[in-house]
Amino acid sequence: MTVAVTARSLFAPLGPTYDRYAALLSFGQDPRWRQYLVSRVQVPPGAKVLDVATGTGAVAAELLRRHVCRVVGVDQSPEMLAEARRRLGNRVEFHEGRAEDLPFDDASFDALTFTYLLRYVDDPGATMRELARVVRPGGTIAMLEFAVPRGPWRPLWEVYVGAVLPAVGRLISPGWHEVGRFLGPSIRGFYERYPIGRMLALWREAGIEDVRCRRLSLGGGIVVWGRRAG
Ligand SMILES: C[S@@+](CC[C@H](N)C(=O)[O-])C[C@H]1O[C@@H](n2cnc3c(N)ncnc32)[C@H](O)[C@@H]1O
Repeated sequence: MTVAVTARSLFAPLGPTYDRYAALLSFGQDPRWRQYLVSRVQVPPGAKVLDVATGTGAVAAELLRRHVCRVVGVDQSPEMLAEARRRLGNRVEFHEGRAEDLPFDDASFDALTFTYLLRYVDDPGATMRELARVVRPGGTIAMLEFAVPRGPWRPLWEVYVGAVLPAVGRLISPGWHEVGRFLGPSIRGFYERYPIGRMLALWREAGIEDVRCRRLSLGGGIVVWGRRAG
């Protein structure tokens, strides 16, 4: 089974409860990480911003809260998009689509955000090139992802993702139990294949410059951002 198929079935049952439990299971850090992500994006007034893997629209909502802009959201999950539409109505233009094959012209956005996406695609390098393609030269591209903490925090993280997350997920629902079991191996496996230096190299190889990153919350989250080369 490809990771793309895994992601579709994983998120299908989560839409209505996603925001509440994502915040709870990240000890309230997840909304704070989105705020930091959006603070990294240069959004001139009236700009058009694409939010990929928009899910229930939490990043799209934060973009609207912070900037005067038009936001377009894309996600492959109709169930997550249904929740996004319920929440944001026509304040955001939502499209069902895949990050690997975006239904937009070259350079048609002033900036782009994406969240928790690269672990779910088969070829992260090709996906980065596709994301960069739709952003105009000079536009910001910014991402939020989980990360693996270092030093003394690593064993605590292993206990959390290995035992606590699956157990709490099980108490919530079968869908969250699946997520609780999936997340630790997914995050660990991604950084084994793409340590942070290699991941940042994929950004540069996709034509993104001034690439920077910041680890958040003891290293449990990471925000990466850069500028589409001219
Ligand atoms: C963990 S959710 C994140 C949602 C939201 N951005 C947030 O901040 O909470 C990940 C989302 O990525 C979407 N997704 C996964 N792979 C995708 C792909 N290849 N193309 C588009 N969306 C994808 C899933 O459907 C899901 O809604």
